Amino acid sequence: MIVFNNVSKIYHMGDEVVKALDHASIHIRQGEFVSIIGPSGSGKSTLMNIVGCLDTADEGEYFLDGMSIKRYSEKSLAMIRSRKIGFIFQNFNLISTMTAEENVELPLIYQGLSMNERKARVKEALEMVDLYPRRKHTPNQMSGGQQQRVAIARAMASKPSIFLADEPTGNLDQATGRQIMQIFHHLHEQGNTIVLITHDEHVAEQADRSIKIMDGKVYDETVGKEETDVPVSASAEETPSEETRQSRKEDPSA
Ligand SMILES: Nc1ncnc2c1ncn2[C@@H]1O[C@H](COP(=O)(O)OP(=O)(O)OP(=O)(O)O)[C@@H](O)[C@H]1O
Ligand SMILES: [Mg+2]
Repeated sequence: MIVFNNVSKIYHMGDEVVKALDHASIHIRQGEFVSIIGPSGSGKSTLMNIVGCLDTADEGEYFLDGMSIKRYSEKSLAMIRSRKIGFIFQNFNLISTMTAEENVELPLIYQGLSMNERKARVKEALEMVDLYPRRKHTPNQMSGGQQQRVAIARAMASKPSIFLADEPTGNLDQATGRQIMQIFHHLHEQGNTIVLITHDEHVAEQADRSIKIMDGKVYDETVGKEETDVPVSASAEETPSEETRQSRKEDPSA
Protein backbone atom coordinates (compact mmCIF):
# COMPACT_ATOMS: atom_id res chain seq x y z
CA MET A 1 0.00 0.00 0.00
CA ILE A 2 1.22 3.45 -0.99
CA VAL A 3 -0.03 6.34 1.15
CA PHE A 4 0.96 9.99 0.89
CA ASN A 5 -0.26 12.29 3.64
CA ASN A 6 0.08 15.92 2.53
CA VAL A 7 3.38 15.41 0.76
CA SER A 8 5.10 18.50 -0.61
CA LYS A 9 8.27 18.84 -2.65
CA ILE A 10 9.70 22.28 -3.12
CA TYR A 11 12.46 23.37 -5.46
CA HIS A 12 14.29 26.67 -5.16
CA MET A 13 15.58 28.12 -8.41
CA GLY A 14 17.30 31.36 -7.48
CA ASP A 15 14.50 33.48 -6.02
CA GLU A 16 11.79 31.35 -7.54
CA VAL A 17 10.05 28.67 -5.47
CA VAL A 18 8.53 25.76 -7.40
CA LYS A 19 6.04 23.59 -5.55
CA ALA A 20 6.51 20.44 -7.61
CA LEU A 21 4.17 18.66 -5.19
CA ASP A 22 1.76 20.69 -3.11
CA HIS A 23 0.23 18.80 -0.14
CA ALA A 24 -0.40 15.70 -2.20
CA SER A 25 -2.43 12.90 -0.61
CA ILE A 26 -2.84 9.53 -2.31
CA HIS A 27 -3.93 6.01 -1.40
CA ILE A 28 -2.94 3.15 -3.67
CA ARG A 29 -3.81 -0.33 -2.44
CA GLN A 30 -1.77 -3.46 -3.02
CA GLY A 31 -2.69 -4.96 -6.39
CA GLU A 32 -4.28 -1.83 -7.86
CA PHE A 33 -3.55 -0.62 -11.39
CA VAL A 34 -3.51 3.17 -11.17
CA SER A 35 -2.59 5.78 -13.73
CA ILE A 36 -1.28 9.22 -12.80
CA ILE A 37 -2.24 11.74 -15.46
CA GLY A 38 -1.28 15.38 -15.80
CA PRO A 39 0.35 17.83 -18.21
CA SER A 40 4.07 18.44 -18.59
CA GLY A 41 5.58 20.04 -15.50
CA SER A 42 2.64 19.07 -13.25
CA GLY A 43 4.81 17.01 -10.88
CA LYS A 44 4.37 13.43 -12.18
CA SER A 45 8.03 12.45 -12.18
CA THR A 46 8.54 14.17 -8.84
CA LEU A 47 5.73 12.03 -7.44
CA MET A 48 7.14 8.88 -9.00
CA ASN A 49 10.60 9.56 -7.57
CA ILE A 50 9.18 9.86 -4.07
CA VAL A 51 6.96 6.75 -4.46
CA GLY A 52 10.04 4.88 -5.68
CA CYS A 53 12.16 6.10 -2.73
CA LEU A 54 14.56 7.80 -5.16
CA ASP A 55 13.77 11.12 -3.51
CA THR A 56 12.19 12.24 -0.25
CA ALA A 57 9.40 14.62 0.69
CA ASP A 58 10.14 18.07 2.12
CA GLU A 59 6.85 18.07 4.03
CA GLY A 60 4.27 15.43 4.86
CA GLU A 61 4.78 11.72 5.16
CA TYR A 62 5.01 8.70 2.86
CA PHE A 63 3.94 5.29 4.17
CA LEU A 64 4.95 2.24 2.17
CA ASP A 65 3.17 -0.92 3.33
CA GLY A 66 2.27 0.79 6.56
CA MET A 67 5.75 1.99 7.44
CA SER A 68 6.83 5.61 7.26
CA ILE A 69 9.86 5.71 5.01
CA LYS A 70 11.36 8.35 7.30
CA ARG A 71 12.18 5.43 9.59
CA TYR A 72 14.53 3.76 7.12
CA SER A 73 18.24 4.38 6.71
CA GLU A 74 19.63 5.11 3.23
CA LYS A 75 20.88 1.53 3.07
CA SER A 76 17.46 0.09 3.88
CA LEU A 77 15.84 2.39 1.32
CA ALA A 78 18.23 1.13 -1.34
CA MET A 79 17.23 -2.42 -0.48
CA ILE A 80 13.51 -1.59 -0.63
CA ARG A 81 14.07 0.04 -4.03
CA SER A 82 15.86 -2.94 -5.47
CA ARG A 83 13.57 -5.66 -4.07
CA LYS A 84 10.15 -4.08 -3.86
CA ILE A 85 9.99 -1.68 -6.78
CA GLY A 86 10.46 -2.19 -10.50
CA PHE A 87 11.16 1.00 -12.47
CA ILE A 88 10.32 1.49 -16.15
CA PHE A 89 11.24 4.73 -17.91
CA GLN A 90 10.24 6.44 -21.15
CA ASN A 91 13.75 6.15 -22.63
CA PHE A 92 14.21 2.51 -21.47
CA ASN A 93 17.51 3.27 -19.63
CA LEU A 94 19.25 0.14 -20.95
CA ILE A 95 23.03 -0.09 -21.01
CA SER A 96 23.93 0.19 -24.67
CA THR A 97 27.04 -1.99 -24.56
CA MET A 98 25.24 -4.89 -22.90
CA THR A 99 23.03 -7.54 -24.49
CA ALA A 100 19.39 -7.97 -23.50
CA GLU A 101 20.23 -10.79 -21.11
CA GLU A 102 23.13 -8.87 -19.54
CA ASN A 103 20.88 -5.86 -18.97
CA VAL A 104 18.28 -8.04 -17.26
CA GLU A 105 20.90 -9.84 -15.19
CA LEU A 106 22.79 -6.77 -13.91
CA PRO A 107 20.51 -5.81 -10.97
CA LEU A 108 20.46 -9.45 -9.90
CA ILE A 109 24.25 -9.42 -9.63
CA TYR A 110 24.04 -6.38 -7.34
CA GLN A 111 21.47 -8.26 -5.26
CA GLY A 112 23.98 -11.07 -4.76
CA LEU A 113 21.90 -13.85 -6.37
CA SER A 114 23.67 -17.05 -7.41
CA MET A 115 24.53 -17.61 -11.06
CA ASN A 116 21.92 -20.39 -11.36
CA GLU A 117 19.19 -18.24 -9.86
CA ARG A 118 20.16 -15.33 -12.11
CA LYS A 119 20.09 -17.45 -15.28
CA ALA A 120 16.67 -18.88 -14.35
CA ARG A 121 15.21 -15.44 -13.65
CA VAL A 122 16.65 -13.87 -16.82
CA LYS A 123 15.16 -16.68 -18.92
CA GLU A 124 11.77 -16.46 -17.23
CA ALA A 125 11.61 -12.67 -17.58
CA LEU A 126 12.73 -12.56 -21.22
CA GLU A 127 10.31 -15.37 -22.10
CA MET A 128 7.47 -13.46 -20.48
CA VAL A 129 8.09 -10.51 -22.83
CA ASP A 130 8.69 -12.86 -25.81
CA LEU A 131 12.31 -11.84 -26.25
CA TYR A 132 14.29 -14.87 -25.15
CA PRO A 133 15.33 -15.62 -28.75
CA ARG A 134 16.80 -12.07 -28.92
CA ARG A 135 18.73 -12.32 -25.67
CA LYS A 136 22.10 -11.78 -27.40
CA HIS A 137 21.01 -8.51 -29.05
CA THR A 138 22.22 -5.14 -27.82
CA PRO A 139 19.78 -2.22 -27.56
CA ASN A 140 20.81 -0.73 -30.92
CA GLN A 141 19.90 -4.05 -32.56
CA MET A 142 16.33 -3.83 -31.25
CA SER A 143 13.25 -1.69 -31.95
CA GLY A 144 11.98 0.77 -29.34
CA GLY A 145 9.19 -1.60 -28.35
CA GLN A 146 11.64 -4.46 -27.95
CA GLN A 147 13.94 -2.29 -25.84
CA GLN A 148 11.05 -1.36 -23.59
CA ARG A 149 10.16 -5.06 -23.23
CA VAL A 150 13.75 -5.75 -22.15
CA ALA A 151 13.44 -2.92 -19.61
CA ILE A 152 10.22 -4.48 -18.28
CA ALA A 153 11.94 -7.88 -18.11
CA ARG A 154 14.76 -6.25 -16.14
CA ALA A 155 12.23 -4.80 -13.68
CA MET A 156 10.36 -8.14 -13.41
CA ALA A 157 13.46 -10.22 -12.77
CA SER A 158 13.85 -8.78 -9.25
CA LYS A 159 10.27 -9.93 -8.53
CA PRO A 160 9.07 -6.59 -7.17
CA SER A 161 5.46 -6.17 -6.02
CA ILE A 162 5.17 -2.59 -7.32
CA PHE A 163 5.87 -1.50 -10.89
CA LEU A 164 6.41 2.23 -11.42
CA ALA A 165 6.37 3.29 -15.05
CA ASP A 166 7.03 6.89 -16.13
CA GLU A 167 5.60 7.43 -19.64
CA PRO A 168 6.51 3.87 -20.71
CA THR A 169 4.79 4.24 -24.09
CA GLY A 170 5.83 7.87 -24.65
CA ASN A 171 8.50 7.04 -27.25
CA LEU A 172 6.51 4.32 -29.02
CA ASP A 173 3.95 4.24 -31.81
CA GLN A 174 0.37 3.35 -30.86
CA ALA A 175 0.46 -0.32 -31.85
CA THR A 176 3.70 -0.90 -29.97
CA GLY A 177 2.34 1.05 -27.02
CA ARG A 178 -0.64 -1.33 -26.92
CA GLN A 179 1.72 -4.33 -26.74
CA ILE A 180 3.49 -2.74 -23.79
CA MET A 181 0.17 -2.05 -22.07
CA GLN A 182 -0.75 -5.74 -22.53
CA ILE A 183 2.33 -6.66 -20.52
CA PHE A 184 1.30 -4.28 -17.72
CA HIS A 185 -2.18 -5.85 -17.70
CA HIS A 186 -0.56 -9.26 -17.39
CA LEU A 187 1.64 -8.10 -14.48
CA HIS A 188 -1.47 -6.67 -12.83
CA GLU A 189 -3.35 -9.97 -13.23
CA GLN A 190 -0.49 -11.64 -11.38
CA GLY A 191 -1.32 -9.46 -8.36
CA ASN A 192 1.24 -6.70 -8.76
CA THR A 193 0.59 -3.04 -8.06
CA ILE A 194 1.04 -0.92 -11.19
CA VAL A 195 1.52 2.86 -11.09
CA LEU A 196 1.65 4.22 -14.60
CA ILE A 197 2.45 7.85 -15.33
CA THR A 198 1.20 9.35 -18.55
CA HIS A 199 -0.10 12.51 -20.17
CA ASP A 200 -2.10 10.39 -22.66
CA GLU A 201 -5.78 9.90 -21.75
CA HIS A 202 -6.08 6.75 -23.89
CA VAL A 203 -3.29 5.16 -21.90
CA ALA A 204 -4.59 6.45 -18.55
CA GLU A 205 -8.08 5.07 -19.03
CA GLN A 206 -6.77 1.50 -19.32
CA ALA A 207 -5.98 1.53 -15.60
CA ASP A 208 -8.55 0.67 -12.92
CA ARG A 209 -8.59 4.32 -11.97
CA SER A 210 -6.73 7.56 -12.60
CA ILE A 211 -5.23 10.04 -10.20
CA LYS A 212 -5.04 13.52 -11.69
CA ILE A 213 -2.24 15.95 -11.03
CA MET A 214 -2.08 19.61 -11.92
CA ASP A 215 0.47 22.20 -10.75
CA GLY A 216 1.65 19.85 -8.02
CA LYS A 217 -1.87 19.33 -6.66
CA VAL A 218 -3.14 15.76 -6.69
CA TYR A 219 -6.76 14.69 -7.07
CA ASP A 220 -7.19 11.17 -5.71
CA GLU A 221 -10.89 10.54 -5.19
CA THR A 222 -10.32 7.53 -2.89
CA VAL A 223 -8.57 9.64 -0.25
CA GLY A 224 -10.94 10.21 2.64
CA LYS A 225 -13.26 7.35 1.58
CA GLU A 226 -14.00 4.96 4.40
CA GLU A 227 -12.51 1.79 2.93
CA THR A 228 -9.03 3.23 2.51
CA ASP A 229 -9.14 5.81 5.27
CA VAL A 230 -7.90 3.52 8.02
CA PRO A 231 -5.19 4.78 10.31
CA VAL A 232 -2.09 3.58 8.55
CA SER A 233 -0.30 2.30 11.62
CA ALA A 234 -3.30 0.14 12.54
CA SER A 235 -3.91 -1.23 9.05
CA ALA A 236 -4.25 -4.98 8.71
CA GLU A 237 -2.26 -4.73 5.50
CA GLU A 238 0.78 -3.51 7.30
CA THR A 239 1.99 -6.97 8.34
CA PRO A 240 5.62 -6.43 7.41
CA SER A 241 7.12 -8.44 4.62
CA GLU A 242 10.25 -10.50 5.17
CA GLU A 243 12.47 -7.80 3.72
CA THR A 244 10.83 -5.06 5.77
CA ARG A 245 11.50 -7.11 8.89
CA GLN A 246 15.00 -7.66 7.66
CA SER A 247 15.62 -3.97 7.09
CA ARG A 248 14.11 -3.11 10.48
CA LYS A 249 16.62 -5.41 12.06
CA GLU A 250 19.44 -3.76 10.17
CA ASP A 251 18.24 -0.27 10.83
CA PRO A 252 18.76 0.82 14.41
CA SER A 253 16.53 3.84 13.85
CA ALA A 254 13.62 1.67 12.65
N1 LIG B 1 15.64 19.18 -9.81
C1 LIG B 1 14.77 20.17 -10.01
N2 LIG B 1 15.11 21.44 -9.72
C2 LIG B 1 14.25 22.45 -9.89
N3 LIG B 1 12.99 22.31 -10.35
C3 LIG B 1 12.58 21.07 -10.66
C4 LIG B 1 13.45 19.94 -10.52
N4 LIG B 1 12.77 18.82 -10.91
C5 LIG B 1 11.55 19.25 -11.29
N5 LIG B 1 11.43 20.60 -11.15
C6 LIG B 1 10.22 21.40 -11.43
O1 LIG B 1 9.13 20.79 -10.75
C7 LIG B 1 7.97 20.79 -11.56
C8 LIG B 1 7.48 19.36 -11.77
O2 LIG B 1 8.43 18.65 -12.55
P1 LIG B 1 8.21 17.13 -12.98
O3 LIG B 1 9.45 16.68 -13.65
O4 LIG B 1 7.75 16.35 -11.80
O5 LIG B 1 7.00 17.24 -14.04
P2 LIG B 1 6.34 16.14 -14.98
O6 LIG B 1 4.87 16.17 -14.69
O7 LIG B 1 7.05 14.85 -14.81
O8 LIG B 1 6.60 16.73 -16.45
P3 LIG B 1 6.86 15.95 -17.85
O9 LIG B 1 5.51 15.44 -18.30
O10 LIG B 1 7.37 17.01 -18.74
O11 LIG B 1 7.84 14.85 -17.60
C9 LIG B 1 8.36 21.52 -12.85
O12 LIG B 1 7.96 22.85 -12.73
C10 LIG B 1 9.86 21.38 -12.88
O13 LIG B 1 10.44 22.46 -13.58
MG1 LIG C 1 8.18 13.64 -16.08
